[in-house]
This record gives sequence, structure tokens and C-alpha cells, in this order.
Amino acid sequence: MPDTLLPTTPRRPSANAALFLRRWLANPLQMGSVVPSSPTLCRRIAALVQAGPEEYVLELGAGTGVLSRALLDRGVPPERLVVVEIVPDMAAHLRRTLPGVHVIQGDAFALAECLPPAIQGRIGAVICGIPLVLLPLERQRAFLGSVGRVAPGLGFLLYSYCITSPLPWRRLGLSARREAWTPRNFPPASIWRYRPAEG
Ligand SMILES: C[S@@+](CC[C@H](N)C(=O)[O-])C[C@H]1O[C@@H](n2cnc3c(N)ncnc32)[C@H](O)[C@@H]1O
Repeated sequence: MPDTLLPTTPRRPSANAALFLRRWLANPLQMGSVVPSSPTLCRRIAALVQAGPEEYVLELGAGTGVLSRALLDRGVPPERLVVVEIVPDMAAHLRRTLPGVHVIQGDAFALAECLPPAIQGRIGAVICGIPLVLLPLERQRAFLGSVGRVAPGLGFLLYSYCITSPLPWRRLGLSARREAWTPRNFPPASIWRYRPAEG
């Protein structure tokens, strides 16, 4: 049976974990983790997200949607949540399990091309789940450029398993702040907030 036809249930952790593991086996560098983020990590991230009622919340690298669900539980209206996922099977899973959410199968490094114009420039918060730490500096710069084109001056939250900043923030012209850390994730994770440095 093709992956896209496998039955899935929105909140069944085992179905999420199986899909996640299959993708990790196919492309470990793109996934960055063997298992989805824990409920604790997702709640901690969602608590740090602030956007106005007319703004969109943009989640990059949504995977099986565990964080997307925490954002909805935290009160982000589905029609204000935009999730971008590069893997077609995962994007299809997100569409099936997140009714009302804007699910975009696309590349977070080309946001200006894949986000509808009506959303660009109206984003209040960006959260990144893509393992940026594994990328060379030039790709990290390209990511910042992509986010900056659709959400100028905003910056983003990044969750990571690194003990220190996963991004060389000074070299990238960013300010950095570790907002939270939790051992209740595999592996333990930090949440970093990066913003374009002033001046
Ligand atoms: C560490 S997983 C995070 C998944 C989920 N947000 C979670 O917390 O469990 C990284 C996700 O980013 C996706 N991804 C990797 N590169 C991407 C890209 N360039 N554009 C969009 N999604 C990407 C992967 O397919 C994977 O689903």
C-alpha cells in the first residue's frame, strides 16, 4: 500500500511516530529527529507564540503536526495557522488531520514562491522545526532570506537539541535568546528566539 493510503488518526501518537520513523529512515538529515516533538515541548513552544487576530502563525517543517495541534489547542484559529512541509506524504497527512489549517507542501527556503500573496507580510509569528543546525552557513543565510521576504524584520522561534545556540547568530546578523529548555523531550530540547540584529 502506498504511504499516502495508510490509515491515520489525528491524535494517535503511534500513527504519527510510525510515519515519522519511515521518513527518518528515508532521509535522516531532512528530519533531524527519530520521533516527533513531545507534548511538553510543543506546549512550551506554543506558549511563546504571539500573533495579532489579523495575523497568521507560520510553522515550518510541520512533520506529523504535533506542534500544529498544540498551537490550535493554545487558541490559534485554524484559518490563521499556515504550515509548510516539504515531504508530500507528510503534507497529505497534515491535510487529512488538520481541518481548516492552510497546509502547503513546499520548501521553507522558497517561501515567497509557495505562500499565497494574501498571507505574505501578514505573519505575526514564525516557528521553525527544520534542523537548521545541520546546514552550512550559506544555507542558513538562504533560510533567513526566505523568512525575511515574507515576514520582514520578524525573526523566528527555533527548537533544537543543541546545548548552545544551533545558529551562529552573530555571523548571521541575528540577536539570539534561549527562551526555554525542557528535559521532557527526546532528546532534551531548547527553544531559541532569533531576530534580525538592530543597526
Ligand atoms: C524535526 S522534524 C519536526 C517535525 C514536527 N514539527 C515535530 O516537532 O515533531 C523536521 C520537519 O521539517 C521538514 N522539512 C525539512 N526540510 C524542509 C524544508 N526545506 N521545507 C519544509 N519542510 C522541511 C521535514 O520533512 C520534517 O517533517
